[in-house]
Amino acid sequence: MPTTNGKRPVNLAILGATGIVGKELLKILDERNFPIGQLKLLASERSKDTTIHFRGKEYPVELAAKDSFKNIDIVLSAAGSIIKELAPAAIAAGAIVIDKSSAFRMNPEVPLVVPGVNDSAMDNHQGIIASPNCSTAQLVIPLKILHDLAGLTRVIVSTYQSVSGAGSAAVEELEMQTHSLMHGQTVEPKVFTKRIAFNLIPHIDKFNKDGYTREEEKLVEETRKILSLPQLAITCTAVRVPVLIGHSESVLVEFARPVTVEQGRNAFAASDMIELWDNTEDNVYPTPIDAAGKDPVYVGRIRKDNSSSNALHIWVVADNLRIGAALNAIRIAEYLLEHKLLRQPVAS
Ligand SMILES: NC(=O)c1ccc[n+]([C@@H]2O[C@H](COP(=O)([O-])OP(=O)(O)OC[C@H]3O[C@@H](n4cnc5c(N)ncnc54)[C@H](OP(=O)(O)O)[C@@H]3O)[C@@H](O)[C@H]2O)c1
Repeated sequence: MPTTNGKRPVNLAILGATGIVGKELLKILDERNFPIGQLKLLASERSKDTTIHFRGKEYPVELAAKDSFKNIDIVLSAAGSIIKELAPAAIAAGAIVIDKSSAFRMNPEVPLVVPGVNDSAMDNHQGIIASPNCSTAQLVIPLKILHDLAGLTRVIVSTYQSVSGAGSAAVEELEMQTHSLMHGQTVEPKVFTKRIAFNLIPHIDKFNKDGYTREEEKLVEETRKILSLPQLAITCTAVRVPVLIGHSESVLVEFARPVTVEQGRNAFAASDMIELWDNTEDNVYPTPIDAAGKDPVYVGRIRKDNSSSNALHIWVVADNLRIGAALNAIRIAEYLLEHKLLRQPVAS
């Protein structure tokens, strides 16, 4: 289905432009000087009559509908499951949908992509490319490097996920609760199941029957798909923490062959997607505040596991709104442009 496309500016639609990921998309498109022709900003009924300022111009926010995609090359979708209803119309109009939701990620026909890890999955796209869950996106970057080094056999992940991963309303909830508690007032959780300020919650998304959450299941399934390791032994506990931006992950990686800390460090140091912050003598290790607003995945605390052989611990931190969402989607769009994989908008 992909066809060649010239170097003309790209007609973009951003679905969910008023959300926390939508705003980050606009910020990064501008930072990276992405060549935009027509720009359409779409959201729900709630954003009717609002406008968004971008590159010196005021854009109206339009209600997303099936007829929103005429002449659009790429739809950057950050609006949740509504894309299931809208994607067929966007594809029929000749656009490519790059989707941030979980709607299509595990569909075998849809590439699930982290650029720099599995780029070639995009080459035969059928009009939709999925971008993974935020905790998966930052995980597979160091995992791919370690797999190439010594072959992964088992991965155990514990996540410490910021509230911005749950959208604008969750950020507001942490800010409001913190303010109220500091002023002696009581708080009632609305977005989360429990109070998030000065607390943490070992529960993200719904519980499955087996006791894992959907968030944990997504990380496992998506990691296997992106790394093309369908049998990889991988397990996860996902925890929401009172951090505004930046997910952290404690990861135990077991290998087919022995690996030294030095080999792990050298492999990360050679990657342009990773920043190695690993010097415990000088208290050098990454935290969410260090990663917020930045493009690399930060890795530190690399150490041999002292309870098993052929295993390393790593500590992985990244900006969930960038690596885990907006930047990943824009890197996908840049790859499509660079490799002439856009489609031709359908004349009507
Ligand atoms: N936050 C992250 O770190 C992250 C990471 C990876 C993936 N994602 C995914 O990205 C998507 C957006 O997340 P977010 O964190 O940006 O959430 P958010 O801040 O709550 O924003 C949601 C956006 O979706 C729009 N929207 C909701 N329902 C809609 C509908 N029926 N029709 C049209 N637009 C609709 C909202 O428009 P209104 O403002 O008009 O309501 C808003 O622009 C979700 O699928 C999420 O799972 C988020």
